[in-house]
Amino acid sequence: MTSSIQASNAWRKLAELAENQRNLHLRDLFNADAQRFADFSLAHDGLLLDYSKQRLSRETLAAWCDLWQSADVPGWIARMRAGEHINGSEDRAVLHIALRERSSEARPEVREVLGRMRDFCAAVQGGAWLGASGERITDIVNIGIGGSDLGPRMITQALAAQCQPALRVRYVANLDAADLATTLADLQPQRTLFVVASKTFTTQETMTNARSARAWLVAALGEAAVARHFVAVSTNLAEVAKFGIDPTNTFAFWDWVGGRFSLWSAIGLPIALAVGFANFERLLDGAHAMDRHFFSAPPERNLPGILALIDIWNIDFLGAGNRAVLPYSQSLALLPRYLQQLEMESNGKRVGRDGQPVSCATAPVVWGEAGTNGQHAFYQLIHQGGRLIPCEFIALKEADFSLPGHHAMLLANCFAQSEALMRGKTLQEARDELHSAGLAADKVAQLAPFKVFPGNQPSTTLLLDRLDPCALGQLIALYEHKTFVQGIVWGINSFDQWGVEYGKQLAARLLPMLEGAQPITALDSSTAALIGACRQAKNAAGSS
Ligand code: F6P
Repeated sequence: MTSSIQASNAWRKLAELAENQRNLHLRDLFNADAQRFADFSLAHDGLLLDYSKQRLSRETLAAWCDLWQSADVPGWIARMRAGEHINGSEDRAVLHIALRERSSEARPEVREVLGRMRDFCAAVQGGAWLGASGERITDIVNIGIGGSDLGPRMITQALAAQCQPALRVRYVANLDAADLATTLADLQPQRTLFVVASKTFTTQETMTNARSARAWLVAALGEAAVARHFVAVSTNLAEVAKFGIDPTNTFAFWDWVGGRFSLWSAIGLPIALAVGFANFERLLDGAHAMDRHFFSAPPERNLPGILALIDIWNIDFLGAGNRAVLPYSQSLALLPRYLQQLEMESNGKRVGRDGQPVSCATAPVVWGEAGTNGQHAFYQLIHQGGRLIPCEFIALKEADFSLPGHHAMLLANCFAQSEALMRGKTLQEARDELHSAGLAADKVAQLAPFKVFPGNQPSTTLLLDRLDPCALGQLIALYEHKTFVQGIVWGINSFDQWGVEYGKQLAARLLPMLEGAQPITALDSSTAALIGACRQAKNAAGSS
């Protein structure tokens, strides 16, 4: 069993603190300490992290600094930066940080691909790159899934205010034909450019969608048109060539870039097409600025470090199994989905780097929705459902789209939620409120219990000056490093993803049975019956 960190004095100290603080209420912590916000917040480069509404004390912070050393976070950072193969089970380096290195230190291969991306964007945006029939490209369709989709899709939406109006960028990921078919429905082949994005270029969803898109294009414009309407982004150039995409239309990246950390590589091409290459560079600059902060700031002032502490504290010491990500920004509506892959694929692990079972809880279930929409759906449960649900609010000081009145209301709602979650409302307060509203005593007694809010629900608020490419780069790199720190502390490899393999393996076995090419044999009764029902329906449809 991987237990070294749990045996450390720092971990034991945190366990002891959690036990002693079990009955403390956030409301009391604020009442007792006017300094609380000042002590539990960090401001850095346009980003304000308020974690004063977490159930932490100064002693927790001190123990965290010890845990940082016990887990050897500085050593792991150094190993990552040196290009050691810290992704042990895949025997790979982890160097997405090298993709945003912008000084003379930048790797020549990274610079070369960035240069090609810049030229390609200029050609498509400026009209030098034309479709096979001589028309300008007006629509880009990125075909990819997981890390080859979620990051670019989220960033493109987040930077909608910067999007180039002449070029619409869409994303197709799902194997379900509904995704591609509905996307193609209002597109014209002669003006559409497909970016096939896949690190491996073997992913079933992406290759199936790419083949169907190719067939759609060839049916309209002929085989020769593929060269003007398909480009690829991949580490597997041999497979790209086999698919029939011209090597000169291929943008490479490398096996030291993990899929969910790849938006900074050529996987970011649709971002650059959507918002312009200069904005893509600013995104890289923002991420690089966060890298520098992460590498140098001490644990008590290290933004990724503090976010990691908060999660570890809530998960391993207070027993939370989940975290709600609640961006009060429609532009960041896809952030919860993006973070699901980043955190759950990275840290949803049961064995440590040594292959032995871990003895603590690892990644939480990450979920969420943009505010204020979530308020009218699931906040009821967060407030009164009786579960521990740490919340992460993300808001912008300055709106990216402005209509009179909206932004102040949006922020008022965001801050009100974290206040309500922290403070709660006692039975006496509920009674007083009803009484002041003029209700009769029996009505007050009847209704008051429904109006009680336990509060003490921990939350963090990340307040960005504004949502520009640089700030967004910082924000995403912040989450990447936080995820890395958590993996270090939990003793796991955050950069492999063996858990996605088994389902793929079984699907390959079931496909011929579903298609009727093989008899339904050697299956459990449930799986056999489900396949049987689909085959029956297909046969019935065929014979009618
Ligand atoms: O979900 C598994 C996974 O390997 C992810 O890590 C990756 O981002 C995704 O599949 C897509 O892989 P590829 O870019 O190779 O198509």
